[in-house]
Amino acid sequence: MRRISASLLAADFSNLQTELSRIETSDLVHIDVMDGNYVPNISFGLPIIEAVQRCTDLPLDIHLMIENPDRLLSNFAKTQPEILTVHYEAVVHLQKTLRSIRDFGIKAGVSLNPHTPLNGLEYILPDLDLILIMTVNPGYGGQEFIPAMIQKIRDCKKLICDYPIEIQVDGGVSIDNIAILSEAGATNFVAGSAIFKSNDPEYYIKKMRTVN
Ligand code: DX5
Ligand code: ZN
Repeated sequence: MRRISASLLAADFSNLQTELSRIETSDLVHIDVMDGNYVPNISFGLPIIEAVQRCTDLPLDIHLMIENPDRLLSNFAKTQPEILTVHYEAVVHLQKTLRSIRDFGIKAGVSLNPHTPLNGLEYILPDLDLILIMTVNPGYGGQEFIPAMIQKIRDCKKLICDYPIEIQVDGGVSIDNIAILSEAGATNFVAGSAIFKSNDPEYYIKKMRTVN
């Protein structure tokens, strides 16, 4: 079963309520928090996330692209997302950070930039609920998918063995590549531009779940 996480970054921020109603059939709302430091772009923070929650019942999937996320974990935890993901490259004591996220009753995710190896994750599999394989360099929506990441997804699937860990992909995901990503082992698909720029997001999301 493919889970679809619609990335709000591609929405029209002048009308969040309408935009959220267009993606009601997705499984999650993907929320990209960028600090202009860890990534070269600034997106939005807590006040917008709280506004999103007032407009939708969909569970939140928060992707923190921020330096030293530990200092802000409790703030984001207050919004009770289903998933809270930090970047491998932005934390020092990853296992501890993941444990803190779970202690808030939230699923713990780690995100890897395209050049970041999977090495090391084998020792912390019991602490992980989700591994996010970035299929673009983080910071912007609408970028081109990096094909070499398909092998990384396969390697990740091998690595997790029978652990109940979701493999999420983010960046340039669309109905044109979702079948191959799914075959490689991905189970959770973030898509921004592809969903929001389509004329019929409901139909597009359905197609993402079924296309081969
Ligand atoms: C990029 C973000 C993505 C972005 C994906 O740094 O993490 O979630 O919204 O956008 P698309 O689907 O347009 O590539
Ligand atoms: Zn993201």
